[in-house]
Parts: sequence; structure tokens; C-alpha cells
Amino acid sequence: MSRIWVLHGVNLNLLGKREPEHYGTQTLDDINENLVKIAENSGFELQINQSNHEGEMVEWIHQMDSDDFLIINPGAWTHYSYAIRDAISSVKVPAIEVHLSNIHKREEFRKNSVIAPVCLGQISGLGMDSYLLALQYALNYVTK
Ligand code: DQA
Repeated sequence: MSRIWVLHGVNLNLLGKREPEHYGTQTLDDINENLVKIAENSGFELQINQSNHEGEMVEWIHQMDSDDFLIINPGAWTHYSYAIRDAISSVKVPAIEVHLSNIHKREEFRKNSVIAPVCLGQISGLGMDSYLLALQYALNYVTK
């Protein structure tokens, strides 16, 4: 059976107290609880992880295969991690890149994602809904 992974990258453990004007006041636990509830309603258990270590993120991605589905918010790694990009394309896992804030209306350096070209799509700027919409897509994708 396909597994749906949710990977939160660097600094996302600080959600709730980190720059709420960009990222809102919900904590990572709040987001995860909502995701788990929705997945459970469809009979799916999620694999959810957060790390501040790029290599650990890469090793989780290596455990995936093309039957799985990845929802990833790479945090600042979005903008420069060729290692995470190559890991996703190596295992050929279908992926959606999500962001709480709209990376296209912030600083110049945030507008470029090196991860997006190896993803099916990107959802950016909808707060927690970015994750929830990605999960809806993932559930449709793995059950079709
Ligand atoms: C972020 C956007 C990134 O630019 C930033 O470095 C983050 C969070 C988001 O969810 O809006 O850490 O990925």
C-alpha cells in the first residue's frame, strides 16, 4: 500500500512563535493533527517528520518509492538544496511542495525554488490550507 509522507524542513519546528506575520500562529502539532484527522477519515496513516538536518531529510526521501506520495515543505532548503531536489528525483516519488507563506510575494531569493521542478506542483501562501489541499490531492492520487 502506498504511504503518504509529510516532511517539514528546517525551522518549521518553531511554527507558532516564529514570524507569525508570515507563518501564522498555528504550531506544527496543530497542522499535523489536522492532517492526521483527514488522512484517518480516508483510512490512511501518515508518515510525518520534521528535521533541521538536511542529510536526515535526504535519508527519509531515500526510503520512499514511486508508489508513495510526498508532501514537503522544505523551508529555506527550497531555495538552494540540490541535495533534496536530487533525492526526490532519484526515488521518483510524486511530490507536492507546500509553503505557508506566498514565496512569490516576499524577498527576491524566496521566489526561486530548486525543488519545484521535481514536483507535480506547488501550493504556496494559503497557510495551513496549503498542506490540507496537498493532502486532499495526495489521497485522490494514491487511491485512484
Ligand atoms: C516557507 C517559506 C520559506 O522561504 C522559508 O524559508 C520557510 C517557510 C513557508 O512555509 O512559507 O522556512 O517554506
